Amino acid sequence: MTKGIDLSATSESKEEGSTDDKVISVQAANEVVLRRPVSEDGADVHQLIGSCPPLDENSLYCNLLQASHFSATSVAAELNGELVGFISGYLIPERPNTLFVWQVAVAEQGRGMGLAGRMLREILARDVCEGVTHLETTITPDNAASWALFRGLARKLETGCEDTVMFDRERHFKGRHDSEKLVRIGPFTGGPVT
Ligand SMILES: CC(C)(COP(=O)(O)OP(=O)(O)OC[C@H]1O[C@@H](n2cnc3c(N)ncnc32)[C@H](O)[C@@H]1OP(=O)(O)O)[C@@H](O)C(=O)NCCC(=O)NCCS
Repeated sequence: MTKGIDLSATSESKEEGSTDDKVISVQAANEVVLRRPVSEDGADVHQLIGSCPPLDENSLYCNLLQASHFSATSVAAELNGELVGFISGYLIPERPNTLFVWQVAVAEQGRGMGLAGRMLREILARDVCEGVTHLETTITPDNAASWALFRGLARKLETGCEDTVMFDRERHFKGRHDSEKLVRIGPFTGGPVT
């Protein structure tokens, strides 16, 4: 476990002693900064996902699209210039009140410190999610950390959390992958989640 990572830090800090309200984007050492991803993050996302089993690896091209077309509903977590966390998500085209969380990855040394939860809440607090009332994701039955993450979010949002099978091991994956359970959280109202 990496020591000295300040997970409460934000990407912006006020210049000390400044006479105006100028906000500068200075990142102190050992502070995790959350920001919208950019296309240049794609290759690092690819590497991070590859180091986070049991996540399915996608093509680098797919990660480039996640970091560009899906940037508004995705988040990158950076520590001392390195990508240590990433969530890809999108508003479901036919149901734009629903944020679908595609993949969540936190580098092994940054786990268990609330980073994934913080990243989810950062996306939900954005203007683009103002009309979002539900969050959906899929989880394999044996991914304890992921279940805890999303059930914990539902608790913080003080709302319901239901699960059903979305992609079945036999019917959809032809036996090559565990079933993916659809987790649906909501309803909730947009805005900051504490
Ligand atoms: C799942 C994952 C993203 C969680 O990241 P994280 O930053 O460690 O999660 P958090 O610290 O925000 O913890 C969220 C909750 O999960 C719980 N949790 C974390 N790791 C856990 C584990 N291994 N087993 C059980 N619960 C766990 C925490 O206690 C916390 O619960 P709480 O809200 O009730 O306190 C991370 O373990 C990971 O990248 N795993 C590999 C990839 C993966 O499985 N992704 C999810 C599928 S999309």
